[in-house]
Parts: sequence; C-alpha cells; structure tokens
Amino acid sequence: MGIKKVGVLGCGLMGAGIVETAARAGFQVVVRDISDEFLSRGIGRIGKNLGRAVKKGRMSQDDMDAILARIEGTTELAPFASADLVIEAVMENLELKQGLWKELDGLCPAHTIFASNTSSLKIGIQAEVTDRKDRFVGLHFFNPVPVMKLVEVIRTDETSDATHEAAMAFSRDLGKDPITCIDSTGFVVNRLLIPYLLDAIRALEKGIASREDIDKGMILGCGHPMGPLSLLDFVGLDTTLYIAGIMSDEFGEPQYKAPELLKTMVAAGKLGRKSGEGFYSY
Ligand code: 3HC
Repeated sequence: MGIKKVGVLGCGLMGAGIVETAARAGFQVVVRDISDEFLSRGIGRIGKNLGRAVKKGRMSQDDMDAILARIEGTTELAPFASADLVIEAVMENLELKQGLWKELDGLCPAHTIFASNTSSLKIGIQAEVTDRKDRFVGLHFFNPVPVMKLVEVIRTDETSDATHEAAMAFSRDLGKDPITCIDSTGFVVNRLLIPYLLDAIRALEKGIASREDIDKGMILGCGHPMGPLSLLDFVGLDTTLYIAGIMSDEFGEPQYKAPELLKTMVAAGKLGRKSGEGFYSY
C-alpha cells in the first residue's frame, strides 16, 4: 500500500522540517504538537521558508499555497488514524515516545508504518511497546531538514523487508538520498560526528588554535560547509551533550566523553544559536 498521508509527531525544528519536506513532495501531512502555540510557531517557520523561496523566484505563490493547504495542524492524535506513515520527532524521552507509540498502535490501521527520527535512542526499544515490530523503522533526518540530502534508514532485527523498502522509497520521494544502517546507538553519522565535535572542543580547551582557526581549518582543509564549533552552535550544545552522554553510557569509550568546557557552557545556558550564544554570539 502506497504512502499518501504522513503523520508527524512534534512541530519543533526537526518536526517542522519533516512536515515542510513531505508537504513540498506532495504528501498530505498532519502534524501534532501539545499546544496551539508550538504548532503555530512550527508552521509559521515553514511559511517563512516557503515565502523566502517565492521571493527568490524559486516557487510560485500558488505552489506555496498548495503546500500549506496540504498541512493540517492538530493537538490531537485522532487524525493519525488515517496516516499511512507516522514519524515521531518529539523530545528525546523514551517514556514519552513509548507512550505515544502505544496509543497510536491501537489507533492506526495495520498497514501504517511507524518511524522514529531519534538521533540517539534505540529504535527496537520503541518498537517493543507495539504489535507492529515488523512495521517499525528509524528515519533519521538532518538539520536543516529541507536542505540536507541524507536520511538514515534504520532497520531493527524485526523490521521487515517490505517496511525497509517502503521507508527507502519514501525517503527518495522526498528528494533525499538515504542510507541503511542497523539499530546501533548513533547510527552512522552521529557515531562519527559526535567524537569529531567533542575533539574540536578539546582542541579549543587545550589552546591548539583560536575558535575561528579551528573552524577555518576544517572548512578550508577538509571542504566542510561549516567548522565544528559553528556546527556545534547550529546543532545545539545541549543536544550534543545529551547525545554524547547516551553514546558514552552505551560504548564506554573516551571519545564520547563530554569535555568540561561543553558541560560548563550548557550549565551556563550557552546552548548555541537557539540561546543567542555558544562558541559564537548570534
Ligand atoms: N531551513 C530551511 N532552509 C535553509 C535553512 C533552514 N534552517 N538554512 C539554510 N537554508 C537554505 C537557504 O534558504 C538556502 O536555500 P536556497 O539556496 O534555495 O536559497 C540554502 O539552504 C543555503 O543557505 P545559505 O546560503 O543561507 O547558507 P549556506 O550555504 O551557508 O548553507 C547550511 C547553510 C545548509 C546550514 C550549511 O552551512 C551546511 O550544510 N551546514 C552543515 C549542516 C550540517 O552538518 N547538518 C547536520 C547536523 S547533525 C544532525 O542534524 C544530526 C543530529 O542528530 C545531531
């Protein structure tokens, strides 16, 4: 059965990005958040992004209106009963995610595929609370979702071939170029990215170079679009600390251990772009 309607749980940065990308690709989308305020903030951000594309002449006003018309905001779960695919992008809290999956498992039809956008929690542990472990995958998007081409499609031991294929096809329908990986904490990208980001902080702590030169080194030396300290500000220092904590607990290896500077900055509320200050000021 083809995917026509997509349900998205959470209209924060990642959720709104997924909603925008799916609606742009022609899918009907229902997005749920816990308050009208969170919903209008997320959908407002989508409107701004689309408005920028119209201004630049990359999209017509009619197309923008049609995309927005495909998006339904709700604070309820009931409209998810007609979704063919549900993607969760709520806070990284296992109990919260499991609670939602349990409720949706009773509400959604048998063919509905469940997908988590978690960056660090195991997919299998979320699937466990449902009776559709074979129709459960990870769909890990990257920030900013409308721009980044990658989706990590994570299959657990129980994900069926049909579900995996549907998740890959859906990702391609979004205009993404997916990769597949097993259900191992951090998947591919964060497994490699988190130690790299933490090492950049360690280099700064040790006075190896200035923040600007560390960033410039990786932009000009390795062709990265952003240096690691700018990327940390972009991803969020609290988010990075959280993911590093989970990976450190899981693997117990020193490369996942958070440097003191990261902990101090998070404790001081310096979270990067979202708080107006991180390694740089915004
Ligand atoms: N939302 C939507 N579109 C955005 C955007 C956003 N937040 N930020 C930029 N864009 C769009 C712009 O509108 C522009 O589109 P256009 O070409 O159609 O006009 C295009 O992206 C390029 O933007 P800019 O010219 O303003 O800026 P840059 O060329 O410097 O690109 C960037 C910005 C895409 C953010 C680039 O710097 C980049 O790729 N940085 C690295 C991002 C990255 O590594 N992300 C992954 C983080 S890790 C992660 O998400 C995993 C998690 O689990 C931690």
